[in-house]
Amino acid sequence: MARKIWVFDTTLRDGEQVPGAKLNQFEKLEVAQQLKKLGVDIIEAGFPASSTGDFHAVKEIAEKVGNTNDIMITALARAVKSDIDAVYNSVKHAEKPLIHMVLGTSDIHVEKKFGKSKNQILDIGVEAVKYAKSLLPDVQYSTEDASRSDFEYLWKTIEAVVKAGATMINVPDTVGYAEPEEFGNLICRLNDRLKNLNDQVLLSVHCHNDLGMATANTLAAIKNGADKVECTINGIGERAGNAALEEVVMAMNTRSTLYNAYTNINTQEIMNTSRLVSSFMGLDVQVNKAITGENAFAHSSGIHQDGLLKSRDAYEIISPIEVGLDDMELVLTARSGRHAVKNALEKLGFDTFTDLQFEEIFSGFLAMADEKKEVYNHDLYIIVENFFNENN
Ligand code: KIV
Ligand code: ZN
Repeated sequence: MARKIWVFDTTLRDGEQVPGAKLNQFEKLEVAQQLKKLGVDIIEAGFPASSTGDFHAVKEIAEKVGNTNDIMITALARAVKSDIDAVYNSVKHAEKPLIHMVLGTSDIHVEKKFGKSKNQILDIGVEAVKYAKSLLPDVQYSTEDASRSDFEYLWKTIEAVVKAGATMINVPDTVGYAEPEEFGNLICRLNDRLKNLNDQVLLSVHCHNDLGMATANTLAAIKNGADKVECTINGIGERAGNAALEEVVMAMNTRSTLYNAYTNINTQEIMNTSRLVSSFMGLDVQVNKAITGENAFAHSSGIHQDGLLKSRDAYEIISPIEVGLDDMELVLTARSGRHAVKNALEKLGFDTFTDLQFEEIFSGFLAMADEKKEVYNHDLYIIVENFFNENN
């Protein structure tokens, strides 16, 4: 029987660590609402100890997006009491809050970053989990730099924090150093031991893309027993980024017999989410990026076009409709009325504006249409973002 794979989205935390990609509170809430429509299981909404602005943004997301029990809201803490308190006080407003904490396990982190012994770091981690557990039932522990850690120390840490109450164990390839066969092997060994110890605990992975292997490593982990994947929209994140949600999900769907697993992602919301994140964060998507790049579904060579006309599957492994692309995009002009503009906004997922708010956005649209003549979907995102900025 196909296994469910949990999707943990960290666009609003690891993704927001990209220089220049900081969002304001309105924008974070809008992205979180879109992630909920997309069907992610867990939203990591920020790092509340980093600033009061981020604390309030996480709190608002917990209240307004976490108000149903089909989604968990979390935020990141280091294994220190003040960070854990900040996470608890911001996420506790959600129906299903989760505390996520991180502490390194590699020699480089233990000795060089913290200047402590392995036993000291282990004790700090266990005490932090016990404290978090006294606040909330769900606690995730991330063994930072797991892929460069000594296996037996990594396992000793996992065993101890699970005994202390951690309900999810996240295994990060923090610097994108792993390669698929090796990472799959690591997950297989950890999974065997973890399921023997406590089969209720979820095993998760968090892969970075420094060598361009984040998606491949994540998929290798799924094949080897991981229950949960951490991803970002468009693969944004620290340095070369994280595993791209859309790539992992579409690979699982397209090659389903290889993975025998499913997610709750509504793939038709992928393009809306990608464009919203790209526009609000000011991060262009590489044109040839898998799934969400502008050319991902474009066919230019004559031979390919001829083949497609004869049979689409000659050069198409995914229908653009599956990821939420229309076969055609209507181009709006100053003559397009309110109805057409409202309809285009709704198709992009903006369906909660009041009449008054819509009028203001429509004025912005007319101003842009006068100037540019033709208004495309990416322009609509800019109009909405301007509206949020002016009303913030
Ligand atoms: O890359 C990393 O190790 C992280 C952890 C906080 C999970 O982002
Ligand atoms: Zn990371």
